[in-house]
Amino acid sequence: MKSKFCVKKSVSQIQIESEQGELKRTLTASNLISLGIGCIIGTGIFVMTGQAAAQFAGPAIIISFLLTGVACAFAAMCYAELASMLPVSGSAYSYAYASLGEIAAWIMGWLMLLEYGVAASTVAVGWSGYLVSFLKDFHIFIPPEWAAATGQKIKLLDGSDGVGIFNLPAAAALFAVTGLLILGVKESASFNNVIVFIKVTVIVLFIAVGFAYVNPDNWHPFLPVNTGEYGHFGWSGVLRGAGYIFFAYVGFEAVSTAAQEAKNPQRDVPIGILGSLVICTILYILVSLVLTGLVKYDTLNVPDPIAVAVDAVHLPWLAFLVKVGAICGLSSVLLVLMFGQTRIFYTMARDGLLPEVFSRIHPKYQTPWINTIMVGIISAVVAGMTPIEALGDLVNLGTLMAFTIICFTVLYLRVKEPELPRPFKIPYPKVTPYLGMLSCMVLISTLWQTFVTLIPYFAIGFAIYFGYGQRHSKLQKEAATRK
Ligand code: ALA
Repeated sequence: MKSKFCVKKSVSQIQIESEQGELKRTLTASNLISLGIGCIIGTGIFVMTGQAAAQFAGPAIIISFLLTGVACAFAAMCYAELASMLPVSGSAYSYAYASLGEIAAWIMGWLMLLEYGVAASTVAVGWSGYLVSFLKDFHIFIPPEWAAATGQKIKLLDGSDGVGIFNLPAAAALFAVTGLLILGVKESASFNNVIVFIKVTVIVLFIAVGFAYVNPDNWHPFLPVNTGEYGHFGWSGVLRGAGYIFFAYVGFEAVSTAAQEAKNPQRDVPIGILGSLVICTILYILVSLVLTGLVKYDTLNVPDPIAVAVDAVHLPWLAFLVKVGAICGLSSVLLVLMFGQTRIFYTMARDGLLPEVFSRIHPKYQTPWINTIMVGIISAVVAGMTPIEALGDLVNLGTLMAFTIICFTVLYLRVKEPELPRPFKIPYPKVTPYLGMLSCMVLISTLWQTFVTLIPYFAIGFAIYFGYGQRHSKLQKEAATRK
């Protein structure tokens, strides 16, 4: 029984599968850094920083960013080693299949649905907040009940209290991206570079111009006193904030998945991963410093905190640019996340763990269209009905669990397959994966309130695996015929 669920793909099988879709080695270190920044900077910095400062950490959210950045650096190293050993499209799902076996691969795939699919819903909600605010500047008002999660408490246009019905702009954004992905709009390096340039320029402008308007009084108290409740300010708030803004870092592993397309993976992949992480961490810390210096932190619990802060110091032109930057920047993150999700389902369906329809390719557009439509519909419904806080914590929890498994996989393969070629080796292999697991677990512990959501989520996941996946698994069928 045990061996059945632990059936593994051999590394050579994975390498053959990867060779079938031969990819050219064209990416340089700077392309990889740009790719990383393109996936990393999004709703986390444009929306969640303000919310985390207002609800959890105050100006000390800066420390939260530093802590999370360090945790991500350990996990990033582990990703880089695996990616250079196993250059395949399914990323962490495939690493788990090759090392820990099928059931671990299923769990990983199910966690990645949070990391990509639910993350896409989260980014769409962030996008919706900035779009509503942008349109308002042109006196176009979307009724608030149609731009908020179902049941969420809101102020209606006439100023009275009301509740949200459905976040239509968020759902519309996901449908638009679904359409683009079906037509086969790939994230091309030059398109990504333009978006990264816009995003980073807007953020640097915010930092540079905003700095002159900072009122240092707003930084006092830097670490507001804990209210008596866990996670509401004080040091527990800094940790809770770190767990919440972890979302801002989600996406850096995209660099590791491009390892097989890097010209010189041993040198360039770590530069790409660490370079984008360091740049984003510095930008995030500076943004939080300026943001909490422009206005009092408790006013930042809004859908568009960065724009609100520059508006408050009478810089409407900058608020306009921030909104344009956020709308463009978040669109590209949305595209990358949705693309990733459809490719994970595609790989799982090819392995027989999901129905074949998920790997069916459109005859004209050559894209997994039915899969894309299904991902689009589910993400849109989730985005329309769920508030950003609930979504963000769920993504963070799922992603941190996936990172923990990744760090463990590095240790496991070092013991079981010490001879396998590793074009990129983690520094201090006896320490780094342990530090990665430890730091991820500390962040996971700050999200304990979200654990209860994971129980039904995993119950559904296992029901699908035992009801469908393990019965149709190609690898299990092959193993059975060999016997
Ligand atoms: N890190 C990405 C964001 O903040 C997912 O939107």
